[in-house]
Amino acid sequence: MENHRKTGSVHDAGNTKYAAPRKKDSGSGAGWLDYLADHAIVPGMLLFSRFGYDLSRRFWTEPIGTLYGRNVVLTGGTSGIGKAAALMLAEKKAFLTIVARNEKKAQQVQQEIMEKTGNPHVDYLLADLSLMQDIKQVAKQLRDSKKSIDILINNAGALFNERKETSEGFEQTFATDLLGVFYLTELLKKTLARSPGARIINVASGGMYTQKIAVHDLENKQELYNGSKAYARAKRGVVMLTRIWADQLHKDGIRVHAMHPGWVDTPGIKRALPEFHALVNKLLRTPDQGADTIVWLALSKKAGQSTGRFWLDRRPHETVVFPGTAASDKERQALWHKLQGLISSLP
Ligand SMILES: NC(=O)c1ccc[n+]([C@@H]2O[C@H](COP(=O)([O-])OP(=O)(O)OC[C@H]3O[C@@H](n4cnc5c(N)ncnc54)[C@H](OP(=O)(O)O)[C@@H]3O)[C@@H](O)[C@H]2O)c1
Repeated sequence: MENHRKTGSVHDAGNTKYAAPRKKDSGSGAGWLDYLADHAIVPGMLLFSRFGYDLSRRFWTEPIGTLYGRNVVLTGGTSGIGKAAALMLAEKKAFLTIVARNEKKAQQVQQEIMEKTGNPHVDYLLADLSLMQDIKQVAKQLRDSKKSIDILINNAGALFNERKETSEGFEQTFATDLLGVFYLTELLKKTLARSPGARIINVASGGMYTQKIAVHDLENKQELYNGSKAYARAKRGVVMLTRIWADQLHKDGIRVHAMHPGWVDTPGIKRALPEFHALVNKLLRTPDQGADTIVWLALSKKAGQSTGRFWLDRRPHETVVFPGTAASDKERQALWHKLQGLISSLP
């Protein structure tokens, strides 16, 4: 698909400056203990488990306030990590809009959250986020609603074990986990810029550590399709976009974060990786534990002072740990131009 669609550049990944990672100072903001853990495979992976969460939380000291009056748009709030985040955000008194594809589920979750938290400011909008036309429409609804958007949380995502294309002709992993995130964020960034201290939070994955972006094959056509690989590459792309947006949107006061929820026991992981789920079942985090850093990034003062980083358990981490997985400036530019090109050629 990407080969025969018209590509045209609209924006530039631009004045973004990327320093080549240096030892123990990669620009990630990771402290030296996290740096060492990230680069040592087994301890690093253990950080993804519930033990990592239990260990990290011992060091949390920052008092957490509320989100009263802050308008939060959260994608994928009907299951797993997103549903847990929705409940926690509503408990923090956020004015919440969930973007969901399934109306029945959305209604049930809205009801459940309002009953459990007593927060009446919970609504939802419908969109299949693998479809660009749906994204265009929901973004318009959000912009036309006259409500500000203070925080956008791109959480919806999925790992598909089979290669399929959406009705619009995009490969579904790419459409859901990368192009859709790009498009929704691009369509809402001007609205976000009008809110002082706006934040974008992108839910990525530690799976991205295993892969380098394949800008020449974003739709996973050229090799035998592998769902985990396609997913990891898409999430790698989201982390790259996080850095690009962080630089571009700094002038507008928007802070942009990517995060890894850890390995979390959700319907999504059970469906996509049943063997992995059965194997590490006892190590998995609860959805609340996975959602914690999302909520923290939404309201923490400390998180408001940084941008462009990749967080796990409220601490910044390295984005590249395996040789050969870092992207060059040229590849970042190329990713940006390809995504822009695809979006600008949409009907
Ligand atoms: N679980 C983990 O260990 C883990 C680890 C790393 C990263 N993550 C990331 O965390 C995020 C949440 O995953 P999860 O584990 O909580 O999975 P989940 O239980 O399957 O929840 C995914 C959510 O995204 C929504 N969604 C998926 N595709 C969508 C589409 N095309 N349009 C609209 N909504 C869509 C789902 O809607 P429905 O309810 O309608 O299905 C659901 O609300 C994902 O981005 C995932 O990649 C998860």
